Amino acid sequence: MAAFRVLAAPASLRRGPSPTPRLATLTRMSTALKTRILAAALSLLAALPLAQAQPAPARPFAPPPACHAVTPPTCAVAGALGRGINLGNMLEAPREGDWGVRLEPAYIDQVAGVFSTVRVPVRWSNHAAATADAKLDETFAGRVDQVVDALLAKGVYVIIDMHHYNQLSGDTLHPNESPVDAAVMEQRLVSMWRQIALRYRDRSPKLLFELLNEPHGRLNGEPWNRLAAQALAAVRASNPTRTVLIGPGEWNGVGELARLKLPPDRNLIVSIHNYDPFNFTHQGVDYLAKPFPTGTPCCDATQRQAIVTALETARQWSVANGYPLFLGEFGAYEAADLKSRETYTRIVRDEAERRGIPWAYWEFASTFGAYSPKKGGWVEPIRRALLD
Ligand code: BGC
Repeated sequence: MAAFRVLAAPASLRRGPSPTPRLATLTRMSTALKTRILAAALSLLAALPLAQAQPAPARPFAPPPACHAVTPPTCAVAGALGRGINLGNMLEAPREGDWGVRLEPAYIDQVAGVFSTVRVPVRWSNHAAATADAKLDETFAGRVDQVVDALLAKGVYVIIDMHHYNQLSGDTLHPNESPVDAAVMEQRLVSMWRQIALRYRDRSPKLLFELLNEPHGRLNGEPWNRLAAQALAAVRASNPTRTVLIGPGEWNGVGELARLKLPPDRNLIVSIHNYDPFNFTHQGVDYLAKPFPTGTPCCDATQRQAIVTALETARQWSVANGYPLFLGEFGAYEAADLKSRETYTRIVRDEAERRGIPWAYWEFASTFGAYSPKKGGWVEPIRRALLD
């Protein structure tokens, strides 16, 4: 782990101390000793890989494309989110552990050591009363408190969302997910946000709320615009200025930005997701209605263009509407070949950063993972595509 921390440090820190003060102390030594020390130093320098001796200039992370619809503090948050990761398949599984990974304390150290933002997907809806008041299960909420507080203590930005409230979008429920009466399902979202917001109202402004992961299906368009406004009002009752993320319908797709009508509120960041080219990123994924075959590489000119077009569409929307953006999910499933995953990851990251779009990779330690719990280490090609 320590080695990765060093690699992830800013280029200026990786170079090591300047040689100048050391040369000054040499003037007080005998010539023979000086010659021996200089020779040793020179051979040491020669042994260093070129990249370490002359670090590549850091690629610039552009400022947000626009901020005229938000307050200066929220614009500053958007400018600081930088590089992030999703602790996915953990707290948004129907029950933690159902999808093979638990949110281990060690993961918190690992991600906070190298990323500036950690998105924590949370399935609140399965841990709340089935009634309109959706009273949160205290044991589960306490578990989320632990994670949020441990991450905040590390100084990173933390995004908690409302993930996989599947019934809202009209999806089939997952095994171990409990259905609720359709008459109360939207009110439950609002009630859950009222409680979550109250619970965390005194936490650091580095804690951000994201109202709903990937609304789609029956929520697309006006239904989501209306419901998002109600959920935001519930948050604002106790958190008047905390930065909140809202994304468009169609799974937070950039094509739906045009239909997103945001409530009048100056502390919003707009969240988008992008998995283009989808037949590459989702090859072999078995939870799709029509799974894609494996064996698709990435990234030829057409595939690269799909990535660029999505991010450029989002950037232009931001410029026209004044809200900064956050690319809350992108990533490629483990069935794709690793070299292609690395290429894809680097392209998305570079194209987002040059447009001033902070991002969070999907995800840390599961099937899209940047880290292998089995090996107890990073999937190095993905790690370096994200961070070097
Ligand atoms: C979903 C995950 C899924 C990922 C990639 C996320 O939004 O919550 O379950 O693995 O997208 O498909």
